[in-house]
Amino acid sequence: MLDLFPTSAEVRDGELAIGGVRASALADEHGTPLVVYCERTLREQARAYRAAAPDAFVCYGSKAFPNLALLRLFAEEGLGADVSTLGELELALRAGVPPERLVLHGNNKSDEELRRAAEAGVGLTVLDALDEIERAAAAGIRRALVRVTSGIEADTHEAIRTGHHGSKFGLPPEDAVDALRRARTAGLDAAGLHVHIGSQLLDTNAARMTVEWLAAFAAACRAELAGWTPEVVDLGGGLGVRHVEDEEAPPVGDFVAELRTRLERAWKLHALPLPRLVLEPGRSLVGRAGVTLYRVGVVKRASESTTYVAVDGGMSDNPRPQLYGARYTALVANRADEPAAQPFAVTGKHCEEEVVIRRVLLAPPRRGDVLAVPATGAYTLSMGSNYNLVPRPAAILVGDGRARVIRRRETIEEVLARESA
Ligand code: LLP
Repeated sequence: MLDLFPTSAEVRDGELAIGGVRASALADEHGTPLVVYCERTLREQARAYRAAAPDAFVCYGSKAFPNLALLRLFAEEGLGADVSTLGELELALRAGVPPERLVLHGNNKSDEELRRAAEAGVGLTVLDALDEIERAAAAGIRRALVRVTSGIEADTHEAIRTGHHGSKFGLPPEDAVDALRRARTAGLDAAGLHVHIGSQLLDTNAARMTVEWLAAFAAACRAELAGWTPEVVDLGGGLGVRHVEDEEAPPVGDFVAELRTRLERAWKLHALPLPRLVLEPGRSLVGRAGVTLYRVGVVKRASESTTYVAVDGGMSDNPRPQLYGARYTALVANRADEPAAQPFAVTGKHCEEEVVIRRVLLAPPRRGDVLAVPATGAYTLSMGSNYNLVPRPAAILVGDGRARVIRRRETIEEVLARESA
């Protein structure tokens, strides 16, 4: 169980500690729900990417958790950032990520987003539609990639599968060739190709096949575009994380090594000049580093087989169980060495039959206990809401026995402040 938690997690005097700080002390001081990020795990994951592909340009898929402190920490580790909206772009700039290390995405970029990216000097813009090419050039964008769909279906939830034909992202191959041609005519530096086949990938099959497909596509581009070849190949993100014990995810090093080897082999086969590799991991950088702490409220037997443990958050801080049927596990943090012998259903405090965890073995929780849910660092707070007017939780960064707030808790006043009558 502890191996789903950040690498600094340990059980000390019967209590879960992260980054050298007891989870119950963090909950007492900062309130709950609280998302605790382990600095060591964040840095280790960033370094694993850098070590596995020293020549590649790695940028953090910031949608996983757009946060000033994390963007700054990853910039210190030499990473850039992938941004897909004006908000994500402004945050990355404020965090001090060098603009040339930013990649702008979006299937429906506004003129304002394109102008701001051009003005800031964003390194790469990923073209996602034929009709944005001239708009991008007019906005002052210089260097661009074209996003293409291979038709290869990744084995993941359909909402986060994006490489298939008919995806709203990218262009089918014929249109992608057209986009490269039009980009060059419009005066853009068409530097290369982009693919992102999906997210929460737990094996490398589809990613490997996509690299091979991409080499053949690059060779076809060379034939159609008077010798043009991609200087840059961006393989997007996608590596999954383990949320529960019966799941396995490949380590970063293996995943990246596999892609690099395939790419080098496939490129050689087509006699193409080796491109600069770009990777855009989101979840695999921050997922395991984050743990959500909840306070246990009501414990209620609802039927012969179901006893609910209601926590003080739920779908407003993590909508993933509702959206994707995502599974999580949990530990009673303040009694972490008691045997987890009985099954419970963990639910939240919102007005519907929401699931936090459908079934989990726990040491019988009591009102006031702290429940820790591991592997919740990615796509939780970033997709949270104010459903039922619940304020958004705080996030903190822990390491070496210290904790600092990296996103403060929203207040009821702030939640109500936008109302008018
Ligand atoms: N690059 C592009 C162009 C992307 O669209 C994404 C994620 C990434 C990189 C980062 O992918 P990652 O390494 O995190 O898999 N809300 C969903 C995930 C949506 C992913 C969107 N795109 C979830 O909670 O599972």
